[in-house]
Amino acid sequence: MCGIVGYIGNKNTKEILLEGLKELEYRGYDSAGIAVLQGENFESFKAVGKLVNLEEKTKNFVTQNFAVGIGHTRWATHGKPTELNAHPHLGESSYVVHNGIIENYAELKKELMREGVTFLSQTDTEVIVHQFEKNLKTHATPFEAFSQTIKELKGAYAILLVTKSKSDSIFFAKHGSPMIIGKNSENEKYFASSDTPLIGHCSDVNYFEDGDFGYVNLSEIVIVDKEGSKKQPHFSKLSTNKLSAQKDGFRFFMEKEIYEQSVVIADTLMGRLSESAVLFDELDTSLFNGINEIKLCACGTSYHSALSASYLFERYAKIKTSVEVASEFRYRQPIMTKDTLFVVISQSGETADTLETLKMAKEAGLKTLVICNVDNSSMVRLADASILTRAGIEKGVASTKAFATQVTVFWMLTLFVAKLKNSLASGEIARQIALLREIPSSVKVTDSMHEKIKRLSKRYLHGHGFFFIGRDIFYPLALEGALKLKEISYLHAEGYPSGEMKHGPIALADPELFTIALLPQYLLYEKAKSNVEELSARDSTICVISAIEFDKADDFIQISACRDYMLEFFEMMVVVQLLSLEISIRLGNDVDMPRNLAKSVTVE
Ligand code: F6R
Repeated sequence: MCGIVGYIGNKNTKEILLEGLKELEYRGYDSAGIAVLQGENFESFKAVGKLVNLEEKTKNFVTQNFAVGIGHTRWATHGKPTELNAHPHLGESSYVVHNGIIENYAELKKELMREGVTFLSQTDTEVIVHQFEKNLKTHATPFEAFSQTIKELKGAYAILLVTKSKSDSIFFAKHGSPMIIGKNSENEKYFASSDTPLIGHCSDVNYFEDGDFGYVNLSEIVIVDKEGSKKQPHFSKLSTNKLSAQKDGFRFFMEKEIYEQSVVIADTLMGRLSESAVLFDELDTSLFNGINEIKLCACGTSYHSALSASYLFERYAKIKTSVEVASEFRYRQPIMTKDTLFVVISQSGETADTLETLKMAKEAGLKTLVICNVDNSSMVRLADASILTRAGIEKGVASTKAFATQVTVFWMLTLFVAKLKNSLASGEIARQIALLREIPSSVKVTDSMHEKIKRLSKRYLHGHGFFFIGRDIFYPLALEGALKLKEISYLHAEGYPSGEMKHGPIALADPELFTIALLPQYLLYEKAKSNVEELSARDSTICVISAIEFDKADDFIQISACRDYMLEFFEMMVVVQLLSLEISIRLGNDVDMPRNLAKSVTVE
């Protein structure tokens, strides 16, 4: 997601900012920009797409002497990825970059516009710089104006601001989004939203705490805490290993990405929910005119999210929905009718089989939609409409946060269609919107949960195979759990509908057969429980994941008592991801780069 860098010193500021942004590329972004203040001269550059575009734009811009500079990589949330929406944002004589969300931006913007301020972008960020310049007129010093501005902002933010009114300094504020300052023996100061841009430049770093704000120049680091008291920075030594810094202390990217799900799902939801409706600015409702059926098509994990979506679409949006494995669909001469909305789902947007089915649907004249994590990917460019999942770059080959955000988007899309079709009472839509807001806390990994899974994973390293079982929407989750385990542990695992075990696979049941049973409290609990009892009676080794204690299991992983089966779905998703992770780590495998697998499958 978005990244921030800042620099004060005598070296080549432009290069330092661009290099810093490159170090943040792995987080994902769709536009970037820098602003540099040298004495009285401000220069700012922005570009959509990759950093090479920004490099190209800045190639004739030279920075040699003392300068202050800020830079940003933006992952679009408020407003499309355009140059105008890219950071830094300009006031009259100041620039700002920002990560997070200013929740009260609409009110502040309204008031500023009433006072005659012109806004150039659709972002929430731009209010910060205009509010600062408004306060500059009524406060004695730029710092007082900045402090007042911070008091007026609600939401989560990491902010850097540079201004001609104090041209030797960078103002900063941190609340809910990460921000670090680094220093070195040459007296330079660096800012960044994570460690990596600072490695190699700084010996010591200070991690700001929520509520900290202040300013920094060559001779001062002024920090004020949330109570308004000045405080000393606490510098600690910076690691010199970039790869481990990118992992934020986690053992593997996959582990980091499992932990990140709470944040990225919050990003997926951001700006898309009101009290009573799901808002997809990117969708024209005419896309659904004349549509009687939805066909979902994808591969692998994305196929599992599509399968999950089919339960929601039929149950809540009351629309006929079918799901297809792309590699099968493309060769089976399918019948495609124009009253079908063809939806492809892909983390990368480049998977060859899925892309081909999208081309087929377009050729057949169907309306098309892609749910994707990568803007400007082949599928996004080809489809009539797209919804971005906003998971940020996923480095672990085994998909985790991409799946989580896909299911989140599908749940939102279900409610969006349900509202259009009037198929769900408004009270129920509002209830489910409130539930959607709870997903970020449902997927938070707790120490006790992780420890428990770490401990019990040692019992599941051998045996002759795993069955992940579930009913209804927990069946696709069982498929996904089994796929995760297969991919990174190389153990045989299958996902199965709980009710199907007795039609064949139960013949395999013995103590060496491991059953991971998903038992949601709020969906077909009794039925799914009987299926587990059938396996238990045949001495299969059983690990139950549920909110309700289950005494016939060998192992029991308790999730919290959520209010709805969809929240149970998300909590169980985290459990099966962690279980695969811990089993794989115990087996000594390369979790992030499992054998034989590639992140983006662009061949048939
Ligand atoms: C599994 C995994 C793969 C992908 C599949 C489709 O962890 O990542 O199964 O889901 O190759 O890829 P995308 O979603 O990029 O189309």
